[in-house]
Amino acid sequence: MKKGKRILILALMGTMLVSSVGCTQTNGKSKARVIRVAHGQNEDHPQHKAMLEFEKYVEEKTNGALDVQIFPNELLGASSQAVELCQTGAIDLVISSLGNLEAFNDSYTVLNLPYIMDSTEHYHAVMNDNDIMGPIYESTRKSGFIGLTWFDAGVRNIYTTSKPIEKPEDLKGLKIRVQASPTNVKMMQALGASPTPMSFGEVYTGLQQHVIDGAENNELALINNKHGEVAKYYSYNMHAMLPDLLIVNAKLLDELPKEQSQAIVDGAKYANEFEVKAWSQAVDKAKAEAEKMGVKFYYPDIKPFQEKMKNLHNEYTQDPKMKEVFDKIRAKGDEILAKNEKKENSSESSDKK
Ligand code: GCU
Repeated sequence: MKKGKRILILALMGTMLVSSVGCTQTNGKSKARVIRVAHGQNEDHPQHKAMLEFEKYVEEKTNGALDVQIFPNELLGASSQAVELCQTGAIDLVISSLGNLEAFNDSYTVLNLPYIMDSTEHYHAVMNDNDIMGPIYESTRKSGFIGLTWFDAGVRNIYTTSKPIEKPEDLKGLKIRVQASPTNVKMMQALGASPTPMSFGEVYTGLQQHVIDGAENNELALINNKHGEVAKYYSYNMHAMLPDLLIVNAKLLDELPKEQSQAIVDGAKYANEFEVKAWSQAVDKAKAEAEKMGVKFYYPDIKPFQEKMKNLHNEYTQDPKMKEVFDKIRAKGDEILAKNEKKENSSESSDKK
């Protein structure tokens, strides 16, 4: 962590301790309760824009009794640290990757498995299914936080500074940055690369200084985080379709007056709808800008990549609890497949008429 950033975090932690006890009284007037939100994206990212909508919504619904303050760009620390601060209540809400949440509940590990989702339609249907996600959101209450909603984080693919990845063998000997999660490390090992866990904020310099040969992420990383300046080969191997989650300190919702906690819950839903709509447009824009920057996009056959990761699915489903979540996700996928086949068949038969 850079020195300036560390000082800023310490200063913020000081003010947090003073004001984290809720509304304060000054001269008989009650001051707004500050709600701190931390995330790792820049101000141009759909997740940041969605949180600005959240801020407007919550402040309006509570007549200013809650004052939402957003800290983007990992300002309050790398996202794993931010999750720890959310556990204690020093930060109220955090947008976290699934990788960071694996340590708290195995269900997050299952959601983070490569190739568990068939399509964006499948992935969105899983995320919007309360029977699947409700218990997962609740599962971390004892650790001090719960899930509120999800944000689209697109499809993750591999990109490098040296060559296009067209088959798993092309990864041999390459150091590829992964998020610090056991599943991501195993996934990259299964593909034959050398996984290098590193925080998101360090990836640009890592690529530039050739500490790593590549990384894996959605297209926005090329532009919002400038990775496209240094990594020019982006291959759609489509290993992960996954969300980020908006988590909240569990005590906060219990302690606030009902209408204020409800405003947070509803505001999160509102932000989710805003972000999901904004996502695909943001991807198109990022792709067009990356192309102008000289990034080339490749579309390899994904089957050989999927084959390499099959064992990972088998390994993780040995655990009955993980298997239960895995089966629910797969059942949803099969349901969608059957529905789409039926639609296709009926449109084919009406074409023939
Ligand atoms: C994406 C994702 C983040 C994640 C980051 C990373 O930006 O939305 O949640 O932290 O990738 O690779 O670390």
